[in-house]
Amino acid sequence: MSDKNNSTLTFADGTAACEFPVLKGTVGPDAVDIRALLGKTGKVTYDPGFLSTASCRSGITYIDGDEGVLLYRGYPIEQLAERCDYLEVCYLLLNGELPNQAQKEEFDLKIMRHTMVHDQINNFFRGFRRDAHPMAILVGTVGALSAFYHDSLDLDNPSHREVSAVRLIAKLPTLAAMAYKYSVGQPFAYPDNSLTYAGNFMRMLFSVPSEEYKVNDTLARALDRIFILHADHEQNASTSTVRLAGSSGANPFACIAAGIACLWGPAHGGANEACLDMLEEIGDVSRVGEYIKKAKDKDSGFRLMGFGHRVYKNYDPRAKLMRETCHEVLGELGLENDRLFKLSMELEKIALEDDYFVQRKLYPNVDFYSGIVQRAMGIPNNMFTCIFALARTVGWVAQWNEMISDSEQKIGRPRQLYTGAAKRDVVGIAQRG
Ligand code: CMC
Repeated sequence: MSDKNNSTLTFADGTAACEFPVLKGTVGPDAVDIRALLGKTGKVTYDPGFLSTASCRSGITYIDGDEGVLLYRGYPIEQLAERCDYLEVCYLLLNGELPNQAQKEEFDLKIMRHTMVHDQINNFFRGFRRDAHPMAILVGTVGALSAFYHDSLDLDNPSHREVSAVRLIAKLPTLAAMAYKYSVGQPFAYPDNSLTYAGNFMRMLFSVPSEEYKVNDTLARALDRIFILHADHEQNASTSTVRLAGSSGANPFACIAAGIACLWGPAHGGANEACLDMLEEIGDVSRVGEYIKKAKDKDSGFRLMGFGHRVYKNYDPRAKLMRETCHEVLGELGLENDRLFKLSMELEKIALEDDYFVQRKLYPNVDFYSGIVQRAMGIPNNMFTCIFALARTVGWVAQWNEMISDSEQKIGRPRQLYTGAAKRDVVGIAQRG
């Protein structure tokens, strides 16, 4: 990477012009390195929402929002979704290269050998109300893992970091399935390490001790694809949260719990649940027009959930793949005439043709279709974000690891533009108006 170019920043208020290095990435926009700005000029930059701010160097994921491109370690998401399984993608994100056969077998075994959680974790579940949201349980129990693995919390030790990564990727499906089982009052199902990562998760979600459970391969493949498509997504809100939490030296379990908490919001990972809730609220194809109108009315405060993206302003390549899977799963289950599926297809069609959505480049995003797929598979709406979280854990861990190994990283500490009262004196209570 060459840091040769400079850019000059000039000011109209008499502050002397200054030069700043321009950093070049492999692809994508250059970055003006303004770390010395405050020291040189006494000024800070103002960029709420980080619209024009790169917070780190990263070699993991690349997105070109205008072209609808998503690369993990340089590989297009379409090829990974079609040619690899989720654990190969995990290996890639963590190690930078795809595994060969022997590496894959070793990695798969390592992950499957860590799927069980400590038996005392069960006690944490009993402390939650039965109607607790599974995401609330997941935030709590993932955070609680830090209390169980003191043996691997030395952040400067790469093998400690590796075993923490394996534990997190292996145990997230178990904890997510336990959160669901607890909420429906069924006994927890232990992992079955002879199954695939996705197949094992389905079994832990849906099996009951009184019946044999057979994994449907088409549905397991669809779930695996959901995991691949959600595995990483550059410096989004939850990943930035993980990095920020980790920048203080917090342990990986605490950092991932922070990421899960951030993901829960409806503008981020909570969108798939919110989208299905919205479809249920609309209820019938005849009411689609009414809701499109409401989404266009700024005073209504209503947005079409599952539409729009901060980065993808052309189309979301994950949505294209998920749309394919959506049709495949609905076909396999004979649900093409399902009321909500038909309603979602009508909503998709109208929004894609409507000027308001076309002009603002608001296309259906991955969560629009992934919610429909998961519902068809029998997964309840409130589990969708947990599934996003378990799939994204590998991305969070890879990004956290990259940050820990980056000598340029410091504790994250943004500046602010203070707009409150200037310094003033406290007066006695009797004198206050
Ligand atoms: N429905 C109606 N109008 C919308 C929507 C929507 N879903 N999204 C954006 N707009 C309008 C918005 O009102 C604004 O209009 P105007 O320019 O007239 O003021 C314009 O489009 C731009 O919106 P923005 O809020 O500036 O865009 P953003 O890039 O900050 O927000 C977003 C991106 C994803 C938060 C937003 O599109 C949204 O709230 N979508 C619904 C929630 C959703 O589906 N989120 C999942 C994102 S994908 C999963 C993930 O990666 O986390």
